[in-house]
Amino acid sequence: MYPAYRKKNDKVNTFADRLQGCFQFSMNGGTPPAADSPEITALSVYAYWLASKAPLGVELPGRGYPDVAPPAKGYSLARGAEVYKDQCAVCHGGEGQGQKGGDSYVMPPLWGKDSYNWGAGMHRFNTAASFIKHNMPLGKGGSLSDEQAWDVAAYLNSHEWPQDPRLIGGSVEKTRVKFRANDGVNLYGQTVEGVLIGQGIR
Ligand code: HEC
Repeated sequence: MYPAYRKKNDKVNTFADRLQGCFQFSMNGGTPPAADSPEITALSVYAYWLASKAPLGVELPGRGYPDVAPPAKGYSLARGAEVYKDQCAVCHGGEGQGQKGGDSYVMPPLWGKDSYNWGAGMHRFNTAASFIKHNMPLGKGGSLSDEQAWDVAAYLNSHEWPQDPRLIGGSVEKTRVKFRANDGVNLYGQTVEGVLIGQGIR
């Protein structure tokens, strides 16, 4: 499917650009490996091999998830907190901190310093709601209602993640205006119960 245009950065992205984005945003990994580095080359070669004989430019089954429509009456952070406590905390932790086995995570953190950052696709309610609806709770994908998926996605958003690495001049507001006019539903740069969301983990 690559090279392809992406709304996120308003340009045609190569496959390497897309992989670099995974390092930079989804893994909050700082400066990504260069496009011609051994790491990006190895991942590109592996993906190319996986795609042997696949048709070009055609969405294959299993790519992405069907969209989950926003609830007609809006989302609720309070209901999202209940869903989280009842159905997510057992694995992802009461404080969203995840769980480790030795040095590595076996259950990923959903917010806080070791989670994905404010630039990751998962920070959009629409993206998170659709991922959550189809995959979570682990092993019970499809069990939440659309409303529960949006509520819990919104609840995740009301916590802090590491700052968007594209932060402009130290300003959450400038960064919101530049990158979020066109980028789905999220709370970045909004004030919730008197607290500005999007200040990042310090
Ligand atoms: C039985 C344990 C379990 C439960 C319960 C569970 N999860 Fe997960 N969750 C996981 C695991 C394991 C992963 C990592 C999956 C992977 O890497 O394929 C994950 C991944 C995620 C991710 C992606 C994290 C990332 O860094 O990309 C999100 C978001 C998420 N879960 C949300 C939820 C929500 C919301 C609930 C409750 C409705 C929930 N999970 C319930 C085990 C669980």
